[in-house]
Amino acid sequence: MKLIKTKLTFLIFITILCCNAQNSKNSHNHIDDHEHVHPHSHYPKYDSIVAHKLIFPSQVPDRIIANLTVDAAHSFAVNWRTDQQIASGVVEIALATDGPEFLFDGVRTIEAKNEIFENQNSKEPLVKAVYHSAIIDNLEPKTTYVYRVGNGIKESAAWSEWFQFTTASATPGDTFSFIYFGDAQNSIKSLWSRVIRSSYQKFPKVNFMLHAGDLVNDRDANLEWGEWFFAGSFIHATVPSMMTPGNHEYRKGVLSALWRPQFTLPQNGPLEVISETCYALDYQDMKLISIDAEAFDEIKEAREVQVIWLDSVLSTNTKKWTAITMHYPIYSTAKGRDNKELREAFQPIIDKYKVDLVLQGHDHTYARGYADNEGKGLTMVNDAGTIYAVSVSGPKMYDSQDKDWMVRRGEYTQLFQIITVEKDTLKYEAYTPIGTLYDAFDLIKNEHGKKQLINKVPKTPIRLKKDYIKEN
Ligand SMILES: [Fe+2]
Repeated sequence: MKLIKTKLTFLIFITILCCNAQNSKNSHNHIDDHEHVHPHSHYPKYDSIVAHKLIFPSQVPDRIIANLTVDAAHSFAVNWRTDQQIASGVVEIALATDGPEFLFDGVRTIEAKNEIFENQNSKEPLVKAVYHSAIIDNLEPKTTYVYRVGNGIKESAAWSEWFQFTTASATPGDTFSFIYFGDAQNSIKSLWSRVIRSSYQKFPKVNFMLHAGDLVNDRDANLEWGEWFFAGSFIHATVPSMMTPGNHEYRKGVLSALWRPQFTLPQNGPLEVISETCYALDYQDMKLISIDAEAFDEIKEAREVQVIWLDSVLSTNTKKWTAITMHYPIYSTAKGRDNKELREAFQPIIDKYKVDLVLQGHDHTYARGYADNEGKGLTMVNDAGTIYAVSVSGPKMYDSQDKDWMVRRGEYTQLFQIITVEKDTLKYEAYTPIGTLYDAFDLIKNEHGKKQLINKVPKTPIRLKKDYIKEN
C-alpha cells in the first residue's frame, strides 16, 4: 500500500515537472501573465470547444457525485475530480447540526482512493485529472450528515462546500422515493439541466435518482460529461444516484474510460468486464438491478452470463419490490425498433420472478404499459404482471408507434418519473419539466404478492411530435 502511494506521489511529481516544463515552453499559458495580453485564443486547435471551464479540472473538487452502495442505510459512495496537483483526497463527514457546531466535534476523515487519469477525445484538448473516490461507511440509518471533499489540508481553499446527505431507513415499510430519468444524451447543459433541476425542485425529499443510460452522446467526450455534472450541480452530491450504461457510453463494445473512475457502483455483477455496469443493490424494501444491455448486445461473454446472474439474484430476493433498469427496452416504442433477443433472454426471468418495474430508455419517446394489456387500457387491472416504462429526459425526440402493451404513450416530451413506495403501494408519476403530470399509476401488492394496477392516466391529450415539428 505504502509502495503504491510512493509510486503515485512519484508519478504526480513527474507529471508536475512535465507540466512545468511544457508551461515553460509555452509560458503564455499562465493566466496571470500580465505581460502577455492579446485577443487570440490560447487553444487555436480546439476553437470549436469553447466551454473549457467544464472540461479542465482545478485544485478545487468538481464533478462531485454520491452513489448508492449495497447498504444504503449505513453507507454511501462519493466521487470527485481534481487536477494532478492534488495527489490524494479525503472526505470529512459529521452528523448534521442546526448551526456550524459540527465543525468543532465529531468530524471523521476518510481517505479516498486516487486514480491518475488522462484522456483526449477527438477534437477535445488533453485532460489530465485525478479521480478520487471513497465509500463512507459506519453510518446510522435515516440520519442526516454533512460531508465535504478536498485535499485534507484544513487551511486550504481546495475543498468543496459541505453537502447535506441523508441515509436510507433500515425500518421495513418506511416510505422512500426515487426519480427515474431516460436518456439525457444531447444538449445536456442547454436543455437537460432544467429537467433534473425541476425534478429536484418538485421533489426535494427524493431519496435517490436512477439514470437509464445514454447520459451523454459520446462516451469519452469530457465536455459532455462536464455538461452532465454542471446540469445536476449540487444535486449530484446531495441525492445519491445509480446508473446503467447505454449504447452511447460504449463504442465498439468498449465502455467509456470515464465510467469507473467517476462513479462508484456495486461490483457484485457476474463478470469483470461489466463490473459497475451490471449490479444489484437494495434500497429499503426494494431490490434494484442494473442490466448492461449494450454489453448483452456487443460483448459475447457478457450475454448469457447476465441472464444466469439475474435468475440467481432474483431467486434469493427477499425484498417486497423489484425494479430492473436496462437501456434497451424489452418492448420498443420507436418506429421500426425491436430488441427481440434481449426480450427472449430476459422476459422469461422477469415473468418468473414477477418483477414489478422495468425502467428503460434508448427510444427517445415515452410509453408505459404491461404485456397483457392488449390495448384494453383498463383503469383497474388484477395481476397485471410487470410494468414496463420507456422514457426520455433530454431533447432528442423520435416517433413512436401505438402498440397494444401501451397504456400511455407520448412523443416530443421531456419527462422525469417519481416513484414512491409506501407500504403496500408503489406510486408512479411522470412529469414534464414544467410540472405537468403526463402519466400515473399505482401498483398495490398484498401479502401474497398479488398485484393490482390502478391506471391514473391524466385527461390531458397525447403529445405527438407531428403537432410540434412539421415534416417536409
Ligand atoms: Fe441509446
